[in-house]
Amino acid sequence: MRGRRALVTGASSGIGEAVSRLLAAEGYRVALLARNRERLEAVASELPPHPGGGHLVLPCDLTSFEQIEEAVRSLEGAFGGLDLLVNNAGIGYRARVSELDPEPLRRVFDTNVFALLLTCKACYPLLVRGQRPVVVNVSSVVGRRGIPGQAGYSASKAAVCSIGEALRVEWAEEDIAVSTLNPALTATGFFQNQLNPQQLPDPDLDEARPASEVAREILSLDRRPRPEVSLRWKWRLLGILSILSPRLADHALVRRLGGDWRVPTRRP
Ligand SMILES: NC(=O)c1ccc[n+]([C@@H]2O[C@H](COP(=O)([O-])OP(=O)(O)OC[C@H]3O[C@@H](n4cnc5c(N)ncnc54)[C@H](OP(=O)(O)O)[C@@H]3O)[C@@H](O)[C@H]2O)c1
Repeated sequence: MRGRRALVTGASSGIGEAVSRLLAAEGYRVALLARNRERLEAVASELPPHPGGGHLVLPCDLTSFEQIEEAVRSLEGAFGGLDLLVNNAGIGYRARVSELDPEPLRRVFDTNVFALLLTCKACYPLLVRGQRPVVVNVSSVVGRRGIPGQAGYSASKAAVCSIGEALRVEWAEEDIAVSTLNPALTATGFFQNQLNPQQLPDPDLDEARPASEVAREILSLDRRPRPEVSLRWKWRLLGILSILSPRLADHALVRRLGGDWRVPTRRP
């Protein structure tokens, strides 16, 4: 896998930073994309140098299609083509539906859904020229089972799962493999970075796993692409139960989340 060219969005922190470090250590040439140029340069400066040319820093706000196109033009100039696209950038928003604010809600969909689709569109010609091209879209376990207090975020991640289903068939002709990865609670700055973090209590971060675990899964998906992987078997079961018996799934979820959430009452 040495010499593969990768673009990682959301590379300035958390999972994106961890996967950028892992890929560079495995001999990939990495383009790091996020808004915070200083953080990107700090991460890039710590990556092992790549013999075929340096890693690339791409400061870009993904909510602007013009900026995505500009970043991909720079990527094309430096790398020529693209072998692995990791669509990881994302933002959270915790609010009850009755208290949703349209502006942050739009930002969640702009970042988690529209930016991902438009990054795929912009990178398509580079992927077509890539060696054994792979796309990994980072969704979430809440994309397969909506969570109270996170309806907007859950819906955005359900959209990411849906995009993966469509795209892997759409791009089969060009032999571009598309995988969806659904991480569960991961120890990153995600909960501090989310929009209006004060609104609801954060989940119990004691259960959080390190970002390096998700990074290893992304590397394994590049080596052996699979349609969809959900981390943690309890969440996998909950996703299946939500289709087979939504009522039972509600019970299981409320027990798992704790707090003030209640199971909907069965009406006669
Ligand atoms: N942490 C968890 O428990 C968890 C669980 C399941 C799924 N996930 C998903 O994993 C992904 C990574 O999250 P994380 O946990 O690593 O959180 P994080 O540390 O907050 O990372 C989010 C990344 O996205 C970038 N980003 C946000 N808005 C952007 C924009 N408009 N343009 C470009 N980059 C943008 C941020 O960089 P800048 O601020 O520099 O732009 C940052 O690098 C997200 O898609 C998240 O939904 C996380």
